[in-house]
Amino acid sequence: MSPTRREALKTSWMIGSGLLAGAAAWTTMEALAPLANVEGGGALPLLPPEAYPEGSATFVRTGRLYVTRAKGELFAISQKCPHLGCRVPYCAASGRFECPCHGSVYNLAGEHISGPAPRGMDGYRVQIENGRVVVDVSAVIEGAPLGERRFDTPAGSGECRDADA
Ligand code: FES
Repeated sequence: MSPTRREALKTSWMIGSGLLAGAAAWTTMEALAPLANVEGGGALPLLPPEAYPEGSATFVRTGRLYVTRAKGELFAISQKCPHLGCRVPYCAASGRFECPCHGSVYNLAGEHISGPAPRGMDGYRVQIENGRVVVDVSAVIEGAPLGERRFDTPAGSGECRDADA
């Protein structure tokens, strides 16, 4: 006996819901996975400091972080937005991190400029060891409080996010 249209729709709906729940679970797990599997037990060795010039933001996939330099200081900034956890891209046109989810904007040091985020972007301790930048990804350093902007640099004239995002 072949299934009725109602049964077929119900089955399709259940399969679709299952796939959607699986995809949501996978995405959540991936986003929240700890960064502990880094060579050296949390120390992530990178390039020499000269590879990160003033005003640059370099994405480091293995740490899901950016290495930036603003006002001469090196920063390691988590890609995860401190608002609700979206991945925040760097916008070279504006010289800012611009969260695509709810529009929070941060400077090169990860300090909060605008938007609903409760603080600046979280980061990690940066050291220079044997001529290389080493980021300690074993402990997250909470972002700067709202209003603290010690490393502001001039913004570029462009922007990357949608105007009404
Ligand atoms: S998750 Fe980035 S502003 Fe909401």
